[in-house]
Amino acid sequence: MPRDPHVKLFIPGPVEVRPQILAAQTAPMIGHRSPEYADLHARVVPKLRPLFGTAGRVFIVTASGSGLQEAAVRNCVRRRCLCLVNGAFGARWHQVALANGKQADALEVSWGEAIRPEQVDDRLRTGGYEAVTVVFNETSTGLLNPLPEIAAVVRQHPDVLLLVDAVSAAGGVEIRADEWGVDVCLTSSQKALALPPGLALCSVSDRAMARAESVPDRGWYFDFLQYEKYAAKNHTPATPAISLIRALDAQLDAIAAEGWQARFARHRRLMGQVHAWVGAGGFDFFAEEGYRSPTVTAVRNTRGVDVGALNAYLRRRGMLISDGYGPLKGETFRVAHMGDATDEEISELLEAMSEFMEET
Ligand SMILES: Cc1ncc(COP(=O)(O)O)c(C=O)c1O
Repeated sequence: MPRDPHVKLFIPGPVEVRPQILAAQTAPMIGHRSPEYADLHARVVPKLRPLFGTAGRVFIVTASGSGLQEAAVRNCVRRRCLCLVNGAFGARWHQVALANGKQADALEVSWGEAIRPEQVDDRLRTGGYEAVTVVFNETSTGLLNPLPEIAAVVRQHPDVLLLVDAVSAAGGVEIRADEWGVDVCLTSSQKALALPPGLALCSVSDRAMARAESVPDRGWYFDFLQYEKYAAKNHTPATPAISLIRALDAQLDAIAAEGWQARFARHRRLMGQVHAWVGAGGFDFFAEEGYRSPTVTAVRNTRGVDVGALNAYLRRRGMLISDGYGPLKGETFRVAHMGDATDEEISELLEAMSEFMEET
């Protein structure tokens, strides 16, 4: 079957998946209640712990990250939660909470500005919140919220759980869920983990499990208590995406071989390359200084570049970046530097972008 010419993805997910990892999906199928599956599951779970910085439980869920946004609020909120919003995915999680019948209040900060721990503390002091939702790395704005500091404030409110979306952070930025006191930390496979889409992963604290026991309408598919019960047998409640879990198994070995700290350092290095290009090209950043993301840069399009034309130019060279998200389309464009991207690949991309600027 003829294939489309390969275009390397520098969009903030899905990102490029290396051929060896794609190939890991093609092993013959096994039953999900078989000993072979239980072995695979048992092998993968411990390898996922460093992703979240936890010594505790990790669930493998067949869904995209949004499924676990829903799971977190369904399992951890009876009535009322506070949703921190400074970008599209924070806003999405607020919508998800409302759609699940929760009284969800938004703490909104201008897009591109970080959420400050004092703002969270002020709201929590008003009382009545059972959980806080926060997006660690806002993919829409290229901003990394100060999660350790926010977590420290939330921890001063003993009955409030901290639910973290690390969809475009996990695998590219260090997370210390146990140390920081994160109760649910969730991610998707298609971002800094450099896997195909279709898996969602999360760490879940004992406090979150205890809360889930007291929440009556958790639903079925994303019920953490069901996940816990089946995890005891290295199973999942429903049929999991076995081929994707095989790819995850292979990728976690590759990440361990690279070294987690080396991987985080590479992400910061790639960010540095992109930042240098932004400065040299006379562009600006959308996210405020001090909080710029190590996995995706949102460039403020101060030179009025035609992003469609830029991407058409890049596509002819086998590469693709992303336009701004939603309302930021045209006003920004985004370059993802996450996953398994190398220094050379980012250099090649940035050179091609510079050539486009010179030619137009
Ligand atoms: C920060 C963040 N949260 C949530 C999502 C939604 O994840 P998914 O598309 O895996 O459902 C995305 C997707 O881009 C994201 O970037």
